[in-house]
Amino acid sequence: MRLLQNLYVLTGPVFGILSHVYAIKYSGGIVMVDGGIKNGSEESIAKWLGYWGLEKEKVTHMLITHGHWDHAGLAADYREKGARIVAHKKELPWIEAGGPPPDDPEQILWPPCKVDTILEGDCKFNIAELEVEVIHVPGHTPGSVIYRINLDGKDVWFVGDFFPPEGHPAHGVKHGWTGDQFFSSRDLIESFKKVQRYHPDMILAGHGYLRVDGCADIPKNNYNNILLAFPSR
Ligand SMILES: [Fe+2]
Repeated sequence: MRLLQNLYVLTGPVFGILSHVYAIKYSGGIVMVDGGIKNGSEESIAKWLGYWGLEKEKVTHMLITHGHWDHAGLAADYREKGARIVAHKKELPWIEAGGPPPDDPEQILWPPCKVDTILEGDCKFNIAELEVEVIHVPGHTPGSVIYRINLDGKDVWFVGDFFPPEGHPAHGVKHGWTGDQFFSSRDLIESFKKVQRYHPDMILAGHGYLRVDGCADIPKNNYNNILLAFPSR
């Protein structure tokens, strides 16, 4: 799907695949946001890059929201083809090992991958004309981040599994999977507190709905709701 002039969704639930992969076309090629699932996302990515006439564009960067198998699965494949891999420092152990620690019950492995650009805390960087703002939002995992990029004048958020943006405020709290060994409700609440003052135009999550409109108040509503969801932190 094409969401904006230069923003595409290549795979995800609407294509029958668990997690989303986004592509941003820019002057130097393509920036991919998240790396999908090894032996799962490849066909859909190739098909839809082809459909949009992007198959010859070089994927120069992959921005990984966090180091889970369904978000970093194809990082090694793309790095081999020349993409720079970007992720937060606290996700490095899993991405570079290609899996969680041996005592984690969720033993899903993927090809290990070196990270080229290591993020710390909140920061900003440029990829040619793209200005990428990183908001560190620990909780789902210690190094989860939001990539915030202005595209076509819109404040576009790639939030990974920080929260799925579906719903009306009445639907209650929305947050990602809480089963990671290092999940922290305390950190998650602090992360929601940090972002509640923002009013994004589009919230693009790792799973579930895409929100391309009407999401300005979602961060604030989610913060209010999450305080009720984890009252005994
Ligand atoms: Fe995740």
